[in-house]
Amino acid sequence: MTDVVRPKTPEELAKMRRAGEIVAEALEALRRAIAPGITTAALDRLAETVIRDLGGIPSFKGYLGYPATICTSINEEIVHGIPGQRVLREGDIISVDVGAIWQGYQGDAAITVAVGEVNKRLLDLMAATQAALQAGIQAARAGARLGDVSHAIEKAARKAGFEVIREYGGHGIGQKMHEPPRIRNWGPPHQGMRLEEGMTFALEPMLSLGGYATKVLADGWTVVTVDGSPTAHFEHTVAVTANGAEILTRLNRPS
Ligand code: MF3
Ligand code: CO
Repeated sequence: MTDVVRPKTPEELAKMRRAGEIVAEALEALRRAIAPGITTAALDRLAETVIRDLGGIPSFKGYLGYPATICTSINEEIVHGIPGQRVLREGDIISVDVGAIWQGYQGDAAITVAVGEVNKRLLDLMAATQAALQAGIQAARAGARLGDVSHAIEKAARKAGFEVIREYGGHGIGQKMHEPPRIRNWGPPHQGMRLEEGMTFALEPMLSLGGYATKVLADGWTVVTVDGSPTAHFEHTVAVTANGAEILTRLNRPS
């Protein structure tokens, strides 16, 4: 079955830019707060405060029963870790994933942050994941095909010597957080739907220092690597333009 994806109108894109800016502000606050000794529950409260102060609504809370505003995924946790009393320790890496709604439109983004001083290999993994996201964003131009985006992400990851997680990926986004299509972070180019200006996607590569096999923990949410390898995750909500994608989840002020 082929996905029907309706490009957003300029008015819708304006709302998604504002939703994205709220997400970016929450991520910036998290980035500054992340340090040895803080709990993931404190990070969750911080993000909720920022989102609500800016007039947004957290989108994750209550989604399929999810209990928090953000996802906090530490080390071998890939995505969907639930905030709680766990304390961050020097040497950890933590992925924080934030979603917010503004006037009915969604923003969704994630970053991975080092907690204090971390191993050089972990810094390489984080940089490669960010580079893979940038490669996907550049490939998401009008006239290209969805497989070109997937392929660009995988190629960047492999060039850096890392595996991409294969069982999770990006998605369409708009009035709902998850809209068609699903976007793999791997696969052949020149395949899949044709991209048109104004289509909006969440691109979100996840890279592993080891293997790509995953499992879900008993809490029903936290996704981890089977071999315990650390992973990184970067995500932006983007809009397709004639020359690559526009990042909607961007801070529109100097940080
Ligand atoms: N960015 C995540 C995703 O696209 C957000 C979902 S977390 C959930 O899967 F808790 F809301 F499900
Ligand atoms: Co997402």
